[in-house]
Formats: sequence, C-alpha cells, structure tokens
Amino acid sequence: MGHMGESLAAERRYDAFLSYARADDPDFRQALVDGLDRAGRRVWFDREAMPNCGTTFGQEIRQAIETSDRLILLAGPAAMSSGYVAQEWGYADDIGKPVVPVAHAVAFRDLPDRLRHYHGVDARRRTVDAVVAELARLLAEPVRPLGPCFHLPHRPPHARDRPELLEHLSSALLPDRMRPEDAGRAPRVTALYGLPGVGKSTLAAAFASAVRTRRVFSDGVAWLAGGPGFRPLATARELLRLAAPGAHLPGSDGEVDVALAAALGGRELLIVLDDVRDPDPVLPFVTALGPCGQALLTTLDQAVATALGAVEIAVDQLDDDAARGLLADWAGRSRQRCGRPRPD
Ligand SMILES: Nc1ncnc2c1ncn2[C@@H]1O[C@H](COP(=O)(O)OP(=O)(O)O)[C@@H](O)[C@H]1O
Ligand SMILES: [Mg+2]
Repeated sequence: MGHMGESLAAERRYDAFLSYARADDPDFRQALVDGLDRAGRRVWFDREAMPNCGTTFGQEIRQAIETSDRLILLAGPAAMSSGYVAQEWGYADDIGKPVVPVAHAVAFRDLPDRLRHYHGVDARRRTVDAVVAELARLLAEPVRPLGPCFHLPHRPPHARDRPELLEHLSSALLPDRMRPEDAGRAPRVTALYGLPGVGKSTLAAAFASAVRTRRVFSDGVAWLAGGPGFRPLATARELLRLAAPGAHLPGSDGEVDVALAAALGGRELLIVLDDVRDPDPVLPFVTALGPCGQALLTTLDQAVATALGAVEIAVDQLDDDAARGLLADWAGRSRQRCGRPRPD
C-alpha cells in the first residue's frame, strides 16, 4: 500500500488545470487564479509561459491535464470559439477528468452538449469571491473513481457516434449527478431492441465504456454474453469473480439468484446482457441489482424487453449519411465520392 500510495500522491500535482482563451476577461481570470491560490488550491494555468504560447495542443498540455484532478473551463465567448480550448477540455473528458465549466459572459445553454452533464459554476452577476468560494469547495471534493470495465468489446474501426441514442441511454440509465436522491428511482432495466446488425451491441458497448458511465458505476461495468447458449450459472460465477471479489460463488443453478442478490445489491454496477433471447434466465441478474445498479440489455425481440419491464429503446440502422461516411472511411475515400450516383 505504502509504496503505491506514495507514488500516486507524488504524481497528483494539481487540483485543476485552467483552460481559457486569452481574449476573455483577463482580470476575472487573474482574480480567480489568485483567489484559488489563497484558498490553498493548486491550479495549472501556465500555458502562456510555454514555448508555443498556447496555440498548439502538445505533450506538455496533455501531461498537465493528466496530472490535474479536474479541468476548469473558463467559458467566455473567446474560449467557446477556440479550437485549442476545445481540445483541452475534450482531452480531459476523454481521459476521465471532470470538467468544471465556469459560465462567464456566456449562458449554460450555449455550452457544447458534451459538457451539459457537468456541474457548472455560474459566474454571471456574481462577485469573484463568491465564484472562488464555490470553486474552492468543489475542488476540495474527491473525484469519483472510474469503474473498471469487464469484458467490454472494443470499439469497431471507423465507428460512427450515435449521439441521440446515447443521450437516450444516459437519461434512462444515469442518475442526474446533482440529485443523488434520484439514484434509486430510475428503472433498473433498459433494453435496446432491433433487427440483427443495426448496431445494438456496438451502441451498448460505446455507452458502457464512456467515462461518464464509468464514473456513475464505480464498482464496474460488466459485459455478459447472452445468445442462444446463455448459461446463467457460468455467467453468474464469472460476474461475481470480477465485480464482487470474495463473494460466495453459486455451485448450482438453484443458487444463482441468492448468490447474485447477496453480492450485488449494494454495488454501483452496470451489467450489459448482450443478445438476450429469453427473459427467464436473465431475470436473477436484473433483480439482484440494488438502487445503484442498472442492467442494459440488447435483444432482437421487443417482447423480451417488455417481459423484463425494461425501458425500451428502438435501434434502427444507421441513417444514409452515416452509412456512406462509414463506407467511405472503410474504403479510404471521401464521403462525396461514395455517395454520388454514377453519371453514366
Ligand atoms: N455506430 C457504428 N459505427 C460503425 N460500425 C458499426 C456501428 N454500429 C455497428 N457497426 C458495425 O455493424 C456491425 C453490426 O453491429 P452490431 O452492434 O453487432 O449489431 P447488432 O448488435 O444490432 O446485431 C458490426 O460489424 C459493427 O462493427
Ligand atoms: Mg449484437
């Protein structure tokens, strides 16, 4: 413990990386930096001192973000139209560093969609001292760890994002982090249903591996293969071995329900049951979950979703534009050339 704890502590050097555009109110920025410094918070804001003058997104910036617990985004008008600011917060989000948007001379609704779920600080019509106090309080809170991934399939090459479906999944499966009292109220099963090959499994994997998802499910996200040969006993044993180390493993089919319920009820766990053919054998997995657990299943058969009382989300094939883009990427050509009918 001691050795690892020390090296981790030595690596963690900043409470926050400050991302900003120089053109946005320098006095406000300086007052924030000074205020956080007085509050004992370590903030990295040194970009201007660097050789590239803060116009490129290099290794140094990456490292500074990696060694910070969070990224504070000073969201002024210039920052919101700056490509390198977007690279900074995008990178932080990609690697699981929470972003704290400080809305300064912009409205929250003008922030990019990807930042909507973060807890922001409203700096409009407030004193700098009040903003500093709120930020200092926020930075003092420990960052929730990301849950480990168990058996998640890799993202396919040239994967297309499906933001609307992902958003649908987020609202069904992720509690609003500002309201912990809602955590237990969401339904515990959500199902993606649709024809073979429309991308249900790919979508489930993209959702399950997202940083935002993993932060909610700190005990892990586990991928359980269903299909026609689904074996509840072997699957339960594997799940418990991974996500509940030390738990009693069931020795027979008859023990599966009790063993799962005993081990999983208190966990922040997402289980993905992929390609469920029959509701009965997966039921013990779903009912074992407690208020902080969720199940996401994919199925060809809407009746399976209905039988399990799931929130049902229909998945259709990629739209034409996305499909053409995918083909073009595979073929290594431009989208236009792929989509255009032949002139002859
Ligand atoms: N969003 C996507 N972008 C790129 N390829 C995709 C996407 N969704 C699915 N695919 C590809 O389409 C095929 C079928 O997807 P899959 O998720 O297995 O479908 P389903 O689970 O609905 O049968 C796979 O080869 C997968 O890599
Ligand atoms: Mg599938």
